[in-house]
Amino acid sequence: MVGHLLIQNATLVLPEKIVEGDLRVKGGSIAEIAIGGGLDSLKNESVIDATGLHLLPGVIDPHVHFREPGNTEKEDLESGSRAAAAGGVTSFLDMPNNNPNTIDRPSLERKISLASKKSITHYGFFIGATKDNISDLQSVQGMDGVCGIKIFMGSSTGDLLVHEQEHLENIFANTGGVIATHAEDEERLQQRNVKFSHRTDIASHAENRDVECAFLATKRAASLAMKHNHRLHIVHLTSGKEADWLYDKKGNLITTEVCTQHLTFDQNDVERLGERVLMNPPIRYDEDRETLWKRLKDGTIDCVVTDHAPHTLEAKAAGFPHAPAGMPGVETSLPLMLTHAKEGKCKITDIAKWMCAGPAQVYGIKNKGSLTEGFDGDLTLVDMEASRIITDSDTWTKVGWTPYSGMELTGWPMYTIVDGEVVHMRRPGGSLKGESVASSGSSGRVLKFRN
Ligand code: DOR
Ligand code: ZN
Repeated sequence: MVGHLLIQNATLVLPEKIVEGDLRVKGGSIAEIAIGGGLDSLKNESVIDATGLHLLPGVIDPHVHFREPGNTEKEDLESGSRAAAAGGVTSFLDMPNNNPNTIDRPSLERKISLASKKSITHYGFFIGATKDNISDLQSVQGMDGVCGIKIFMGSSTGDLLVHEQEHLENIFANTGGVIATHAEDEERLQQRNVKFSHRTDIASHAENRDVECAFLATKRAASLAMKHNHRLHIVHLTSGKEADWLYDKKGNLITTEVCTQHLTFDQNDVERLGERVLMNPPIRYDEDRETLWKRLKDGTIDCVVTDHAPHTLEAKAAGFPHAPAGMPGVETSLPLMLTHAKEGKCKITDIAKWMCAGPAQVYGIKNKGSLTEGFDGDLTLVDMEASRIITDSDTWTKVGWTPYSGMELTGWPMYTIVDGEVVHMRRPGGSLKGESVASSGSSGRVLKFRN
């Protein structure tokens, strides 16, 4: 569905500045931006009076795990997309460590078809690399809905893994598009897993999967990219050492991202929150967090993502080291980043750059990521004055919890808009969850990528 919508009296978050004005979406696309306002409503047009609200481009979260197929009791493409929309996210890119893994064309076609019936936002999918699926990787290159190849260079949730040099070379030499790597060094991990097997304290997780483990794999991925002149995106950077090293290696060839939780949490939160914030690569130390902020601001890091990886609280209750790694986050990333902005960590225009324009640029998503005439009408209207304490019961994810439970977040999406149609809304003073107002599959389209 595409909408005709006029947003009046908004505070427009344009790429370089914030100004008052109106914005018109016609046939799903941004038709007119009037700085200073003055647009009158046309026939057949819905109108939102956005007085007091900031208008941002819809957020693109290029790193989520929506668990379909295989673990739809934790999340599926409908619940995940509704959670996304609740957080101002209008497009997502979903990872391939499913059950079965998404490692060939038929499994991607199935996911795209399921998303067309279930998702209320736009969607794209990664194909997972194995040591012997080169022809599958090649067969989906340039296909609509396929954003790139995901390589787990170190073991994490699921059994996708490619770590031997010969197999990595083969993939970098014989495929196109974006390769996204989970960069942790498998050999080092295996050695350290033995060494740390007697430790049951959660602090040992970051000692075991240490900075060196991430750094070795990041360097290896970067040298493969340079050798084969292959586009590389390093997912969830966690250490200051990697970020500093990437500072002068970056060009158009290598891009990278940081998760909201790595910008927010440190070793003290791991002690406080335990298994809830257990993930791979781990939450590290305060100095890593501060360097990640610095390298985000200087452009070394291109975008901010969630790695939304839902696990049930029952599974988390197994305790360390048995609890699964990963935490939900797709519905809280924008309020969390807006809270950081409110506290002076960054500007709202930075957030639009890191969460909207950045992901669009990294993956070559056409016509998305900024308030520009001719671009798609994917938008979110946020109330920067709304300050609410979030609890587990306020969440849309099927697993029903958030690592930010108990935190006061300031800056909440009041409307999330896909192709000019409102898909999620909150009312002033109403429930924090708000209302998901789109029916399954009625909004959201398959994403197209410039590969
Ligand atoms: O902590 C993680 N959880 N890291 C990953 O790499 C995968 C994710 C998951 O799928 O649960
Ligand atoms: Zn992930």
